[in-house]
Amino acid sequence: MTNSNKDEDQSFNIDKFYKDYLKGPIIFKKREALEPSFIPNELPHRDYEIEKIAAITACALKGDVAPNLLCYGMTGTGKTATVRYISQKLAQHCKGNTPWWIYINCNVVSTPYRILAHIYNTINQKEKIPPTGLPKDIIFKKLLGLLDIRIKHSICFLVLDEIDILIEKKGGNEILYDLTRLNENLDYCRTSLIGISNKLKFIDYLDSRVTSSLGEEEPIVFHPYNANQLADILKQRAGIAFPEGIIEDGVIKLCAGLAAKEHGDARKALQLLRKAGEIAERRHNKSISESHVQRAQKDIDKDHVVEYILSMPLQSQLTITAIFLLRKYNKQHIITSGDIYDVHSELSNRIPGIKQLTKRRISDYINELALAGLISAITTSMGHYGRTKIINLDIDMSLVERVLNQIPKIKMANLLNIKPTLLQTDKVRLKNNVFKKLL
Ligand SMILES: Nc1ncnc2c1ncn2[C@@H]1O[C@H](COP(=O)(O)OP(=O)(O)OP(=O)(O)O)[C@@H](O)[C@H]1O
Ligand SMILES: [Mg+2]
Repeated sequence: MTNSNKDEDQSFNIDKFYKDYLKGPIIFKKREALEPSFIPNELPHRDYEIEKIAAITACALKGDVAPNLLCYGMTGTGKTATVRYISQKLAQHCKGNTPWWIYINCNVVSTPYRILAHIYNTINQKEKIPPTGLPKDIIFKKLLGLLDIRIKHSICFLVLDEIDILIEKKGGNEILYDLTRLNENLDYCRTSLIGISNKLKFIDYLDSRVTSSLGEEEPIVFHPYNANQLADILKQRAGIAFPEGIIEDGVIKLCAGLAAKEHGDARKALQLLRKAGEIAERRHNKSISESHVQRAQKDIDKDHVVEYILSMPLQSQLTITAIFLLRKYNKQHIITSGDIYDVHSELSNRIPGIKQLTKRRISDYINELALAGLISAITTSMGHYGRTKIINLDIDMSLVERVLNQIPKIKMANLLNIKPTLLQTDKVRLKNNVFKKLL
């Protein structure tokens, strides 16, 4: 994000910018090697998982159907990469009919209808099924016919990535049941399902008929990486992505250490290294240093804050707006949950269709914001005022202002320029003076 006020009177010279960019030092040799979709030739520290899945799927080399399979583990533990890697390896070793792999990300292709249409359209590139409209039994029959005609005596792996999202949807269990029973209705082709999930508890929500079919094999569990394992993964990818000598000592270790703290997520580790490289490139530095990694970490945290606030419900956004306004118009004011309640009510009156909340609900929103690390809320004894919750904003005011300004209802009602009425009352001022002495 750029600071829009910074150079309002100096116009940006795009020609000079591009020329300077091209003249800058070369930091990346192959940038895409750090992208999440890149599949390396080796996956360090996933031997056990690769061996297990390879053993289960090997029968496809001889044209036999493999048992259905489930993989699960935390985010960034290499589940998707491992399954894609195995699909490539299996194809390399296949002498007869190469198996088909149809990859479905249930977060993107998210309804039962679309899943069937996606499978059909991937196999049949010519005649596509429309994104909505056909009855399910018709599309199902068409799919069965197509599998037998096009795939014939081969095996078709159906990979359902982020399968937990499908289970939460209406008809999710039903479509899974249908997919697990495809083989009973096929004459030649055979299908195997591979489900991938990062929610360990999702199996509890599966219909028992689906569990028995998907759970033929013990699920493959992907454990989080430790800092040393992440360092090995980073070294391998850095070797492909950067020219020799670009990365200073300590950079890989720092990225690995930071990502290991966040549940051993390889995606996070790679994202840090890529961002650090981009920062070095933008600054025209010749190498990547630990300070670039630290800057990258701050940027990523900021992005998370922005995403988090934008995805909150409006009432919660108004709660943080109330805290922002109290701080904006009086830097010394000690903010209590009662103050937030008052300002929140004042703000809700300005947005049509928004109802005022009870003190209880506001207190819930305050707790959620504190849990997310955006604010801190500490309960303190305030003499005859009793126990009071004191709130502090833990993120940068300018960042909060920038994000809140992106929320149409807040921007349209010009809420960020409203001085809270309570800051202008003597009663509140007196109470605050007492609080200041007590703290
Ligand atoms: N052992 C490994 N060796 C090399 N790269 C890896 C390894 N494990 C993960 N990665 C890389 O880390 C990134 C994240 O991995 P992947 O997408 O497979 O995670 P995931 O377990 O599917 O996570 P999610 O549950 O969030 O989808 C990818 O860029 C992947 O290539
Ligand atoms: Mg994945």
